Amino acid sequence: MTTVLHLDASARPGRAGTHAHGSHTRALTHRFVERWRAARPGDTVIVRDVGQTPPAHVSSDWVAAAFTPRADRTTAQRRRLAESDALIDELRRADVLVLGVPMYNFGPPAAFKAWIDQIVRIGETFAYEPARADSPYVPLLADRPRRTVLLSARGGDGFDAGGEMAHMNHLDPAVATALGFLGIDGLAHIAVEHQEHGGEALAKSVAQAQARVDALVDRWLHLEASQAPSAGEHEDRAIAACA
Ligand SMILES: Cc1cc2nc3c(=O)[nH]c(=O)nc-3n(C[C@H](O)[C@H](O)[C@H](O)COP(=O)(O)O)c2cc1C
Repeated sequence: MTTVLHLDASARPGRAGTHAHGSHTRALTHRFVERWRAARPGDTVIVRDVGQTPPAHVSSDWVAAAFTPRADRTTAQRRRLAESDALIDELRRADVLVLGVPMYNFGPPAAFKAWIDQIVRIGETFAYEPARADSPYVPLLADRPRRTVLLSARGGDGFDAGGEMAHMNHLDPAVATALGFLGIDGLAHIAVEHQEHGGEALAKSVAQAQARVDALVDRWLHLEASQAPSAGEHEDRAIAACA
């Protein structure tokens, strides 16, 4: 069985095309997950809505707790890290990570950045080993999750690689860098553009993004079917992730 982590970060609760003033990123993540579910109804889907329920911002207590060895943490420190523990646990359980993240002021919404700050944690999702010659930073999620897609939306256009505004896109590189630091590589990127322009330009962009989502889901479903790991391999990975 495969586990899909479905995360939304838009401040808008409804979906474009279904609700008035709805979110395009929510429409794309919904489309992805529903297509996946239709093909694999037995899979588990974890829903994490940081747009509606943002994680806490990192505080001085949080930092002190995270840098205290696990065995030495006080009850209050363990409590302070409970949210981070839960978010990291979801990530470790996920085989497929579906991120719906709108562009706000050229980067991710603060709620999504708060999620990133909760999941990038020393000793949990990366390790620091100063004696290592190549790099002291060791990613600890190198095989969890196995496939990740960033479904984005922008009011303007030209933010994709090679576009006129690509140099102002600080969202896609930020997500790829933070996840890559943990070992989550090979991010797929799909975005709706022209939300603020509307009309034909938006309709065309939405149709293109939908077609790309469908094609990506079908490709990954095919890979899941052809590369399904044995139960033993699943267990090995789970043990390695928790070690
Ligand atoms: C606070 C805020 C900041 C935004 N900043 C940008 C921006 O920097 N560039 C851009 O092209 N669109 C920007 N937009 C437009 C959004 O990217 C666009 O509305 C997108 O569709 C939002 O995603 P959603 O539809 O999933 O809610 C911004 C919108 C909001 C609400």
